[in-house]
Amino acid sequence: MTATTDETWTAGSPGALGPTGRPRPVFPEPPTPESHGPARVVAMVNQKGGVGKTTTTINLGAALAEVGQKVLLVDFDPQGALSVGLGIDPRPLETTIYDLLMEEPDVTAEDVLLGTSVEGMDLLPSNIFLSGAEIRLVNEVAREYALQRSLEPLLPYYDICLIDCQPSLGLLTVNALTCAHSVMIPLECEFFALRGVALLMESISKVQERLNKNLEIDGLLATMYDPRTLHAREVLATIMQGFGDKVFHTVINRTVRFPDATLAGEPITQFDPGSMGATAYRELAREVLARWPARL
Ligand SMILES: Nc1ncnc2c1ncn2[C@@H]1O[C@H](COP(=O)(O)OP(=O)(O)O)[C@@H](O)[C@H]1O
Ligand SMILES: [Mg+2]
Repeated sequence: MTATTDETWTAGSPGALGPTGRPRPVFPEPPTPESHGPARVVAMVNQKGGVGKTTTTINLGAALAEVGQKVLLVDFDPQGALSVGLGIDPRPLETTIYDLLMEEPDVTAEDVLLGTSVEGMDLLPSNIFLSGAEIRLVNEVAREYALQRSLEPLLPYYDICLIDCQPSLGLLTVNALTCAHSVMIPLECEFFALRGVALLMESISKVQERLNKNLEIDGLLATMYDPRTLHAREVLATIMQGFGDKVFHTVINRTVRFPDATLAGEPITQFDPGSMGATAYRELAREVLARWPARL
């Protein structure tokens, strides 16, 4: 694999080899949608923690909203990091995604829905109560479909729904995979990036066979890439060997601006709009929009 520099991967150098070793296609400027919905549902999954699921959910969501898509984010991790990253303290919230899953009487999806600082992007928050859902759902009939039932009334109003999953392949993640049209898998460009991915693929296959035959894998997203280190380049080359065209052309570099933006409770596209991180997520938004069919 050829050495890459920061310059070769950024948008604007079409034809040059990107960090994945393939020529970079030019992704077209997406047209502004004239009408909205129903939403394509995308699960952000990797049972490893700290690989960039939450960061990608926030920033891809914000980049999609910037180009006129109506975006619904679902915090499906009891840690509530997605909510926190959007400047919302989920601890005191009385209604969360948990109430929808449990079909609490008198709680509607509208009651749980929160706006965000990004125009066109809303959030279904979660907090630690969600950790009780897994146990309570076990005895439910059609327990894998609880999230689908919860989201159904909202999907006609959005174009894209991103579900930020917890780091596990348990029942909550199976719920996300069951209601999703597709899966995105962030992978940190570090040692052991691929550890556990075979198990994840197995879980996805099982869901495809038993619960959701239309589930697709959108792609694997290399995150926290440092083009200056041989190690990161080798890891990315290994990811390419394993998954080839399933790997997104867009690669997210490692930069401290991401944790900084999380602390500020803002997507990087707002916190530092001209940064390389913001540019990368805008590029990812164009790449996914080019891949997804215009209408479901
Ligand atoms: N590209 C990146 N560069 C540097 N730090 C990042 C990057 N992406 C995420 N982070 C940081 O790494 C940590 C884990 O990321 P996060 O998105 O929360 O992972 P996950 O949701 O998979 O557990 C967070 O502190 C986040 O701010
Ligand atoms: Mg997370």
